[in-house]
Amino acid sequence: MPKAPAKAPAPLAGAFDIEGFRTDLLNWFASCARDLPWRRTLEPYHVWLSEIMLQQTQMDRAVQYFQRFILRFPDMASLAAAHEDEVLKLWEGLGYYSRAKNLLRAARVVMSGHGGEFPTTFEAVRALPGVGPYTAGAVMSVAYNDTRPAVDANVERVLSRLLDIDRPVSEPEVKRRILAAARELLPPGQARAFNQGLMEFGALVCAPRKPDCLRCPVTRHCLAKASGTVAQRPVLSPKPSIIRVDMACGVLVTGGLVFIQKRRADDVWPGLWEFPGGVIEPGETPEQAMVREFSEETGLRVRPAGKIAVVRSSYTRYRITLHGYFCQAEPGQNPQQDHQLHEAEEARLLPPPQLKVFAFPSGHARLLSRVLTDVRLEGLLNSPD
Ligand code: ADE
Repeated sequence: MPKAPAKAPAPLAGAFDIEGFRTDLLNWFASCARDLPWRRTLEPYHVWLSEIMLQQTQMDRAVQYFQRFILRFPDMASLAAAHEDEVLKLWEGLGYYSRAKNLLRAARVVMSGHGGEFPTTFEAVRALPGVGPYTAGAVMSVAYNDTRPAVDANVERVLSRLLDIDRPVSEPEVKRRILAAARELLPPGQARAFNQGLMEFGALVCAPRKPDCLRCPVTRHCLAKASGTVAQRPVLSPKPSIIRVDMACGVLVTGGLVFIQKRRADDVWPGLWEFPGGVIEPGETPEQAMVREFSEETGLRVRPAGKIAVVRSSYTRYRITLHGYFCQAEPGQNPQQDHQLHEAEEARLLPPPQLKVFAFPSGHARLLSRVLTDVRLEGLLNSPD
């Protein structure tokens, strides 16, 4: 049997005071909006950059990174001309590095395909690398005041409370209902303030864990408040389980230089740099794993030369414990010439201060700062292999 087409969500009109909600939200936003750098200019380049940064990042951090980024790349042309390594370095610490790579790709598309002008239609913005329907809606409404909904996780939470939705927001039908409601609520000609108001309200008042219902400017419209179900909204889907992984890596110091390699484009953290290493197998010590992994990844035989640190980091649902070791090359090899690239697309041997120019995944970045302040480094740099 062919599947019946999905029913259009029931409209809010008639059952909900749309005008009253718009007025209350807009009044609240007019007096409580945060002073954010891209709100001062409303430049499409700034708005787009802020939305890409905010996709997976808290506001305070995004503002900090935004300001650094704009200083280095004040416009699309300067970004498009950048080397990917430099963009990744500026992004270091924000995570989800595909955002930075797509940002650079999109800047080049704007320069080559749009004459350097940020596109002005939803379809053209949506077609830029790294831009999904939410980001396109947010950029169009904030930069151009185009009447488009912008539904991110914040807005999903707000609307699932406002409309007292009793199904998980991850369900496609619920997503459709929320998007339809966001469209219906949107006041024509005021999308800029309304969409930002909804997001701001989700961040400052209708927060994920502790919604501040006492200070809520739209409490009289909230169906979950009326039903006493605010604490149960949104209905959450089961959380993916956490996976713990123990890894070991080696910081090879040889001939006064340190070995790093660049991760392959088709792997996790594509394009970032790292110290060779991998997962500790059952029955192995971290040191043994480091020596084995180093040889499997680079073809170089190394011996441990002291533990540096154990650092912890997170990647999606993985919780990674990384054991870092200094190591030296076993005699009879010339790492500069003899290294192979089994897990990487490039390798470099560099004097330690130059390592800071490259972007590393957070665990390796933390290990690197320990390496650079370790009193043993000088001795290893000066010791023969
Ligand atoms: N989160 C994502 N985009 C935002 C915006 N424009 N204002 C407030 N919070 C946001």
